[in-house]
Formats: sequence, structure tokens, C-alpha cells
Amino acid sequence: MKYPNNRLRRNRRTPAIREMVQENRLHPSDFIAPIFIMEGENQKEEISSMPGYYRYSLDTLGSELEELIEVGIKSVLLFVKVPDSKKDNKGKEALNEMGLMQRSVRFMKENYPDLWVMTDVAMDPYSSYGHDGIVEGDEIVNDPSVKVLAKMAVSHAKAGADMVAPSDMMDGRIGAMRTALDEAGYENTGIMAYSAKYASSFYGPFRDALDSAPGFGDKKTYQMNPANVDEALREVELDIEEGADIVMVKPGMPYLDVVRAVKQNFNIPVSVYNVSGEYAMIKAAAEKGWLNEEEVMMESLLAFKRAGADLIATYFAKQAAKLIKDQ
Ligand code: PBG
Repeated sequence: MKYPNNRLRRNRRTPAIREMVQENRLHPSDFIAPIFIMEGENQKEEISSMPGYYRYSLDTLGSELEELIEVGIKSVLLFVKVPDSKKDNKGKEALNEMGLMQRSVRFMKENYPDLWVMTDVAMDPYSSYGHDGIVEGDEIVNDPSVKVLAKMAVSHAKAGADMVAPSDMMDGRIGAMRTALDEAGYENTGIMAYSAKYASSFYGPFRDALDSAPGFGDKKTYQMNPANVDEALREVELDIEEGADIVMVKPGMPYLDVVRAVKQNFNIPVSVYNVSGEYAMIKAAAEKGWLNEEEVMMESLLAFKRAGADLIATYFAKQAAKLIKDQ
């Protein structure tokens, strides 16, 4: 029976009843903290288009990791900034056992063994062209790139990564990585697949952070068309068949319908990447005094849970986890 028998405001009357009937909640273990690492000593550089977010040299990273652990963050996702002199078209530096990524993973697993360490697997930070694969003419060639990516995954696993996170969008790379990892004896190393990664303009600040903007063209021949959702489900389906342990949708806020569709169609943990441009928008509006930063941050993060995400990779991880912990 409708009004006046039903009054939905009864369940909103006090903080207690609102909390009792709350359908979704955020927890620090929902968050994956992206970490930008650079060469050098005693470096901590703010990324200009990401206020409050930094690139660290390995020797300054410890206190940041301790703060993350202290507020309840369980996992990090590592990205490295590679000097131009080490970039080429074949991703040679990506396979270097003494490379920055490999050293970073070893550092973390030695000093913070309980922290779940995930590594970005893609060629763009290592590519003289800023592309996620090998360039031949004006093409990003798929199968030769997949071979390098599979070797990269093994190299990260050898350094001690708990999970590799391929963000390249080449076809067949999840299966190739799974096979390569198993053959090398790393059957316990997981794969978080960037399954539905869109060719988005929201990645701008990240490309500043890593100096990885494509030197020519764009990424539309491998990243997805923002207009599509059926195709996202096909990507996810294939990645699951090929052995993904977690699938990801990226970016986040403009793609909540994709998160929901993936969660409804598949029984696998779903992560979402609240990307650099989304972070920059909130920070910029807050700086101008146009939005309340903390409230908008928490509302956005909660929306990911409501849409169906199990995990959220976000530059707000520490800030949000701290707020939740202090509540
Ligand atoms: C590259 C990669 C990108 C991001 C994560 N991995 C950028 C791109 O595809 O150009 C973007 C993350 C962000 O914007 O926060 N493989």
C-alpha cells in the first residue's frame, strides 16, 4: 500500500537507522594504491597535474608504504618512470632483472612481505613511441608484443610480484602470460587483467606522471571505443577463459554501467580503476572551492561499490582509508 502507509523517510530519520539500512560500505581493503617510482636518490616529486600525488625514488618510498599499511591498505599497483635513454621499441629494459620495476618489487617483498604487490605490465613506459606494444610502420603489432609482455610478467613474478596487471589491451595476452608463468614455475602468481580498458582522455595526468604519452597517433587500435559495452563483456569473457583472476574496468566514474554489466554477467572479482583524470577533476574543483573534496571523494568511491566493484584502484586510497579508519 502506498502513502501514507509507506513513508520511506522513516528509514532515514536518524544516523543509526541510516547506517543500519545502508546497502554498500567502503573498507580500506577495497582500495588498491597505485605507486609511481622513479630512479635516483632522495627524490619525491609532486606530479603537477595530480596535486598531492608523488613520484618516489626507492629510498623515499618506505614511509609512504608504512602510512598505507597503517591505514589498512592491503595492495599496491606499481608503475615505473623510465629514463628516455633506456627506452626503445622492443621493451628491452622491461625485461632487465636489475630494472627499476624488478628492484622495486624485491624491495617491497623484502621489507613489507604482507603487502600484496601488483605490477603494471605494458610496454608504454619503456617504449620510445609511448605505445603499449611494438611499433612497425604505423601499426602496433599484436603477437610480437604479446611475447614481450609474457616475458615481462615472468620477470616480475621472478622478482616476487604477487600479481601481474597487464594494462596493454593486446589480444591473447592473458593466456600467453598464464602459460609463460606456469611454465616458469609461477603458477601461484595471479593476473589482474585490465579487460575493458577504454581509449580514454581521462589518462592525461598519468601520462604526465610517467612521461608516457604516445609519440604518434593514439591508442584506439587497441584500447576500446568508449561507445561500447557488449564488446567489454566479450573482452572479460575471453580474459576469464584465458586465466584472469580479477578483471578490471577502466576508467571508473564515466563507466559505472560497464562495471555493473560485468559484475552481473560474471562470477569473478571485479576491479575498477578510478583514473588520474578523475582524481585531477576532483582536486581541481576542490582547489577552486567549488566542491567539498572529502565528500565528493567518498561519494564517488561508494558509487563504485554500488555499481558492483569489489576493488577500486584509486589515487585517493590513502586519504579515503584514513577517513574511514578515523570515523
Ligand atoms: C598504460 C597505462 C595507462 C594507465 C595505466 N596504465 C595509460 C594509458 O593507457 O595510456 C592510466 C592510469 C590513469 O590514468 O590513472 N599501460
